[in-house]
Amino acid sequence: MTRDPNSHGETGAGGAASELHGGGGHDKRYGGGVEKLRRPERLELLELGRVMQLCLEGGACRSVLDVGTGSGVFAEAFAGRGLEAAGCDVNEALLEEARKQVPGAAFVAGAMERLPYEDGSFDLVFLGHVLHETDDVDRALAEARRVARVRVAILEWPFREEELGPPLAHRLRPEQVEERARAVGFGSVERRELCHMELFLLGR
Ligand SMILES: C[S@@+](CC[C@H](N)C(=O)[O-])C[C@H]1O[C@@H](n2cnc3c(N)ncnc32)[C@H](O)[C@@H]1O
Repeated sequence: MTRDPNSHGETGAGGAASELHGGGGHDKRYGGGVEKLRRPERLELLELGRVMQLCLEGGACRSVLDVGTGSGVFAEAFAGRGLEAAGCDVNEALLEEARKQVPGAAFVAGAMERLPYEDGSFDLVFLGHVLHETDDVDRALAEARRVARVRVAILEWPFREEELGPPLAHRLRPEQVEERARAVGFGSVERRELCHMELFLLGR
């Protein structure tokens, strides 16, 4: 089967998979628009209800930062659960869309490798389909830990080739996420396999 790297709606502005690796700079970064992020088939794969439940277990979280928020899908879901929601992203066009979709949340420009927030600003820091887009996983994890008061949650694609989602070369091995999370200092690291995704729950 021939993969169309743009059909999954997750990666890159480019064409063939080889181009996604050859361009230098941000070849793994999502380059699509809001439509792909809010396609019903994608939203179904995200298992939003289960993700919310697992992230909010214990009831200690009242505020959340959605890192790499895109059009604000997760910020919206958390706000719907009564959390004070904020989001950041490097893509201004998507941030504009997020502001329309989730008017009650505070969205600002900011990179996961250098979050524009003070230490301990949010109970929960959430990264949904974002960590695999950085070239510096350690730095992104350390930044998430720095601005989190209670926990960090990471939703990622499983490490397998699939028609939907980023190519295998861009995906993270779950063991790598767990190992790097421990290496940057998280006190607890739990991995939950969902029907279509991997969820990592990291305790500060
Ligand atoms: C596949 S989209 C996911 C968007 C959203 N989290 C969702 O699941 O609907 C990845 C998002 O991460 C953002 N992103 C990529 N690199 C980033 C970085 N270094 N810092 C912050 N956001 C980044 C992209 O602009 C894009 O909005």
